[in-house]
Amino acid sequence: MAINNVKGTHDVIGVEANLYSEIENLLKQVAELYMYSEVRPPVLEYSELFVRGVGESSDVVRKEMYTFLDKGERSLTLRPEFTAGIMRLIVQNKLLATNDWPLKLYYCGPVFRYERPQLGRYRQFNQFGVEAVGHNSPINDVEVITMAYTMLVSLGLENVKIKINTLGDEESRLNYRQALKDYFKDKIDDMCEDCHSRYKLNPLRILDCKVPHDQEIVTGAPKMSEYLSEASKARFQVVCNALKEYDIPFEVDDNLVRGLDYYSETVFEFHYISQKGNDYGAIGAGGHYSHLVKEVGGPDVPGIGFSFGIERLASVITDDGLVPDNVAQKCDIYVMPLGEQNQIHALALANEARLLGYNVEMNFDNTKLGNMFKKAEKKGARVGVIIGDNEVANGTIILKNLLTKEQEEICLNEYIERLDQLLGENERECCCGEECGGQKKE
Ligand code: HAM
Repeated sequence: MAINNVKGTHDVIGVEANLYSEIENLLKQVAELYMYSEVRPPVLEYSELFVRGVGESSDVVRKEMYTFLDKGERSLTLRPEFTAGIMRLIVQNKLLATNDWPLKLYYCGPVFRYERPQLGRYRQFNQFGVEAVGHNSPINDVEVITMAYTMLVSLGLENVKIKINTLGDEESRLNYRQALKDYFKDKIDDMCEDCHSRYKLNPLRILDCKVPHDQEIVTGAPKMSEYLSEASKARFQVVCNALKEYDIPFEVDDNLVRGLDYYSETVFEFHYISQKGNDYGAIGAGGHYSHLVKEVGGPDVPGIGFSFGIERLASVITDDGLVPDNVAQKCDIYVMPLGEQNQIHALALANEARLLGYNVEMNFDNTKLGNMFKKAEKKGARVGVIIGDNEVANGTIILKNLLTKEQEEICLNEYIERLDQLLGENERECCCGEECGGQKKE
């Protein structure tokens, strides 16, 4: 019996895989404009990191982690998100020692959550995110939100809805927590099992409950905005005013509480409904955290960050016809050796053109020219290179313009010059990764 992929995981193939790379590259480019640098933490961490960092009352820690004991009986977890691991990386590698704060890092890779798979929701998915650690300036929040918005606009997503809210400082949250406890006290018995433990561990989590009956009760709950300290109110006002000044479209959503326990002050989510009407959930989200670095053993400094879900970005980009042309692989040259004995010469020609930046496919079938032409056509190749016994003996090659069907025999030493004329020198991408016409290589 065939073995299939694990439920909630998915294979990414061909053009879709190219689209993922294209999205990630674009996000990296924008992050680098803002002077963020890349880090690659491991996928595996000690479970305690997430219990302490993400928080015991979050659904992620309570229900969704892939946790197991390794052969040494250590409890390990496949990361369910990046932020806690990034804080561990910062503390362990003493990255804050330079005092050059905020420390600005970006990351990208797979994360794992045992959730119910559905549209836009996987058990293994990819995140791209950033963290700026060590500064409390509300304008730093604004820079981070602006950067996220710029990233989405550079991907072509223009109707992004940004929801933002504030969870206030510690004093605000303590007061609000008490208000929620008082409100739910005589209602909690009627609510779901999960809400019972949320009530004990962190009543704020009740606001996130998806059970319709509980949601009705939640509607009448006190609002965070009524319990904000003066300092938190003023801080949030600065963030909102600056976003307005920079023409970043947003709406304040009083009910936005986020599902991870480390947040304080500014929190935000990016929503986007594709033109096909598909709602994949938030395409990205993040917020400010006050004590997460301390929680994992570092100094008590705040930070702010966000993550995008790559699968969700790819889905809305595809739905809205925004896939860039260059994700489809193009074949410039198709090399056709006549006879097995000439494959070695053909390979030399293919590699010479590849070194100059042309995309080259070589045929290994040892078949008739007609069959090879059919394959070249299927690949969409623009130039065919043919080499047989006569050509090897004469030091020549046959070049065929596969669009006009014109064919010519040329000397071996004219090969590159003629390819450049047929394909347009400027189109080749050098091995330096740029369209420098192969000059950097030389
Ligand atoms: P999060 O909201 O849990 O935040 O996830 C961020 C993004 O990951 C979501 O907005 C969504 O696009 C994507 N995502 C989440 N779950 C799934 C899933 N099951 N399948 C597909 N995509 C998913 C965090 O992870 C925080 N660490 C963000 C952050 C960074 N906060 C501060 N810094």
